[in-house]
This record gives sequence, structure tokens and C-alpha cells, in this order.
Amino acid sequence: MYSVSKLTEYSASALERASAELRSALAQEAVAVKNEAEWKIFRDRWMARKNGVLTQINDLWLKAAPKEAKREAGREVNLVKEQVEQAVAAAKIQSQIPTLPIAHAGSEPSEVEFQGKAFEKAGLVDITLPGIRRPIGAEHPVIKTMNEIVSVFQKLGYSVAEGPVVETDYYNFEALNFPPNHPARDTQDTLFIAGQAAKPPRERLLLRTHTSPVQIRTMEKMRPPIRIVIPGQVHRNDPPDASHSPMFHQVEGLAVDTNITFSDLKGTLDHAMKALFGSSVKTHFRPSFFPFTEPSAEMFVSCFICGGSGTRGAEPCRPCKQTGWIEILGCGMVDPNVFDFVKDKGYDPRKVSGFAFGMGADRIALLKYGVDDIQLFFQGDVRFLQQFA
Ligand code: PHE
Repeated sequence: MYSVSKLTEYSASALERASAELRSALAQEAVAVKNEAEWKIFRDRWMARKNGVLTQINDLWLKAAPKEAKREAGREVNLVKEQVEQAVAAAKIQSQIPTLPIAHAGSEPSEVEFQGKAFEKAGLVDITLPGIRRPIGAEHPVIKTMNEIVSVFQKLGYSVAEGPVVETDYYNFEALNFPPNHPARDTQDTLFIAGQAAKPPRERLLLRTHTSPVQIRTMEKMRPPIRIVIPGQVHRNDPPDASHSPMFHQVEGLAVDTNITFSDLKGTLDHAMKALFGSSVKTHFRPSFFPFTEPSAEMFVSCFICGGSGTRGAEPCRPCKQTGWIEILGCGMVDPNVFDFVKDKGYDPRKVSGFAFGMGADRIALLKYGVDDIQLFFQGDVRFLQQFA
């Protein structure tokens, strides 16, 4: 342990050497302080009036100095005194931190940083020590899946469009051919923004229940022909369980041109599914209903878990519920009533036709990664999410 020794010489370099030795001992002892009790011992060792290190250097360096060296020695002792005081203050802060917490990216300035600041101020930072590692982070599995879906369509010449999550009744329902009070609205379990009663119904705000409103928003801005994909967040008033979340994600698609047919819809989606799930998957369309497409369909892909057999060895295949088919999306030919809402932007239903589709990105991510609970995606548990980095 460091102890103060008498100075035999009072030259500037001798003083400097002596105080450098003291400083390095001070720094070493300061960083070793782990708790309040240790800090008290540390403080008293350096600052106690009776026989503390500061008292000793006052006696051995200053009082013992010959007259002509008193000025220089006094300056050095004052400097050391300041450094000791700062180190004791910094060590106190450190002693109040139970264990060094791991710094997380994006968090508030951590205690580690706070402690670092105190030591930096005290001139006690060892810049040769390794730094605090900050994890860079990675794409969330749902975002990654959305990007993969989007890029399949980008390669076909589609561009990306986005729209607001807080939407008006007009874009979410009315312009998509959901008449006011129509029962089809009930199927969407809409979450409404409060305090909207004073507004005309079509201007009332809600959390969009699907990405389809961006179809209208884009057609208002761009004349045909268009081919767009629309990734985004949507909300529905569904109680959370293993396969439902009140917040989830969709990727929508819209193609409008002259002479677009249901064959184009089938060919495009069949290609996309093979690109996403592997070239051996088959697609299958069943009639369905959406107010904004006519005819409408649900599209299924052959189960890529069991290869369409419905069984995995002796076990039943759960993802496809033993049917060999997995429902992936809703689609259809754009209803002429929808074009009527954007007729003056060049969408004359007698001249153009189009198809649209919308798929749940979270569901696809669940299937792709073999995750059995959608809640895991949104609980923010780094141990779960790290597996996809
Ligand atoms: N918007 C529909 C839904 O959320 C899906 C869909 C999109 C259906 C486009 C047809 C065309 O269920």
C-alpha cells in the first residue's frame, strides 16, 4: 500500500515524480471502493486530519521543505489536495452503485456513464481500459419479414407507399365501399379515437384496421398505371392471445392498369409465394368477400411445414391444422365503386381495372420462424429477439 515518503530533493521533476506516484496509488484505491463502508475507510485514509495521506504530505513535503523550495512544494501539495478531494467524491458516487449495470442502447444516460463523468472530472479516467460495449441492435423479425415481402414485389417493379396509422373513417371505410352503418364494418373491430362526436362522420379519426386506406390515398396522388406495396402497422380491438394482437402488421398490394385480370392477380401472387416460401409451394384461391374487391378471394399456400400432407411423421401438423393449406391473404379485383371515389384522378372504372391483396406480416413471420405465440414479438424481451439477430 502507498505510503508518503520524505522528499530528499525539491526540484520540479522530483516533485512531479512524487505526486505522480501518489496519483496512481490514489486512482487504484479509488476504483476499488465498492460500498459505503469501504468508501469511509478510503476517505479517512486519505483525508483524516490525524495521519491521513494529505496531512502527511503537508508535514513531509511542505513543512519539511527548505525555505527556497516552499513555494513550489506548496503549489504541488495544493494540487494533490484537490485531486484527492475529487477522487474521494467520485468514489462516493461509485460506492452507491450496487453492481455495475449493463448499459443498454437507447437508454437514459446510465449510472456507468454518470460514474465515468465523476472520474473524468477527477482526472482519474484510464483511457487504455476497454470501453462500455453498446449493442448495435438488429431488425425485428416482423420488420424483417415485411421487408422481405416488400422486396419480392419491388423486384416485380412495384414501388412502396405508406400512409398514416391514425386514419379517417373516410379512407378506412367509406372510400373503400363500406357504406355507413354497414355490418361489414363490424368485422373490423375498430378502435376509435375518443371525443370525435362533433365532427362529420367521415372525418372522425380511428386507428386504421387495415392498410387498404393507402390504396385510395395513393390513387388520389398518382394517376394510373400504378403498382404499389404498402407495409404498415394496423390495429383491431382483438383481445391478445397466442394468435391475436391488437396491434399487428400488414403488407398491402395494388396494381391498376388497363386490362388487368384475375389471371394477373393469380400469377403475381403465385410467384410471390414461391419467392417467399420456396419454389415448391402451391397456391389455392377460395371465394370470399371484401367490400372493396369484386370478386374477392382468400389465398392459401400449401403447408410448407408438412409439405401439404397434414401430418409430420406420426404427429398431426399444427400450423395448417392438418389441412395441408395455410391461409395467407385476402385479395380480389378492385371494386368499380372504389374507382368511383377517385374517378377524377384518372381512374374511370370503364377504362381501368386492377387487383389488390393484403396479408398479415406477423402471421407470416410466425410461420416462417416457427414461433407459436404472437405476443412474443411485442413483449420486447431481448432474449427472444436476439435469436433473430
Ligand atoms: N384489407 C383486407 C383485410 O385487412 C385484406 C385485403 C386487402 C383484401 C386488399 C382484399 C384486397 O382483411
